[in-house]
Amino acid sequence: MINITAVEKSYGKSDSLVTALKKVDVQIERGEMVAIVGASGSGKSTLLNIIGCLDKATSGQYLFDGTNVQDLNQRALAKLRNKGFGFVVQYFALIDDYTVYENVEIPLKYGKVNKKLRKEKIEALLEKLQIADKRNKTPKELSGGQCQRVAIARALVNDPDIILADEPTGALDKKTGEEVVEIFRSLNEEGKTIVIVTHDEKVARSCNRIITIEDGMICKNEIISRG
Ligand SMILES: Nc1ncnc2c1ncn2[C@@H]1O[C@H](COP(=O)(O)OP(=O)(O)O)[C@@H](O)[C@H]1O
Ligand SMILES: [Mg+2]
Repeated sequence: MINITAVEKSYGKSDSLVTALKKVDVQIERGEMVAIVGASGSGKSTLLNIIGCLDKATSGQYLFDGTNVQDLNQRALAKLRNKGFGFVVQYFALIDDYTVYENVEIPLKYGKVNKKLRKEKIEALLEKLQIADKRNKTPKELSGGQCQRVAIARALVNDPDIILADEPTGALDKKTGEEVVEIFRSLNEEGKTIVIVTHDEKVARSCNRIITIEDGMICKNEIISRG
């Protein structure tokens, strides 16, 4: 599904050049649940953003389902981003003035889905994530865990191939974080491909594979076996 070969990513130029990724190879198959771990500044978010087509590699090759992502024009790239990936981030990235319902609706509006179908999809996800009773609340009226559920609902609403989560438990207490990991696990069991950037060893251990990145290079690729 994801086939990244010798990808490099640099920021800035000449004397302020930072190479965030150095000749990185990553393969991810459909149905996997993969953790990306590493110290702060090691390149985890950079890698996730390239996978999610939020950012482009400086060099190297990225094939998504056989399509060369570097060859796509802006329009095709935007379409792939909206339909192919659901993003979840540490501080939820919800719109404060929107209700829960309206926040989850955003990707559907971009995708030009009609109102009736939007409502069906949103209500089903609010039920699934146990936040249906919050549909008319705004993010400020919710706990962190509830906000993250809203963000996960929004990430799922276009039924993307893959969920990309950048430190999704980083702003949550231990118990709430574990609940969020459980949500990802059950989504994975339903077949969703999931990639989680995390600092948390326990979160990483709940995935099926752990990719460790150090100073922009992949230094370990560990399969987690479950007995
Ligand atoms: N937009 C940017 N401009 C310049 N440097 C950046 C930018 N984003 C990240 N970097 C640098 O790239 C390196 C990797 O960053 P990042 O991928 O955010 O690491 P991580 O997510 O592992 O903490 C760091 O040295 C960081 O300072
Ligand atoms: Mg990061």
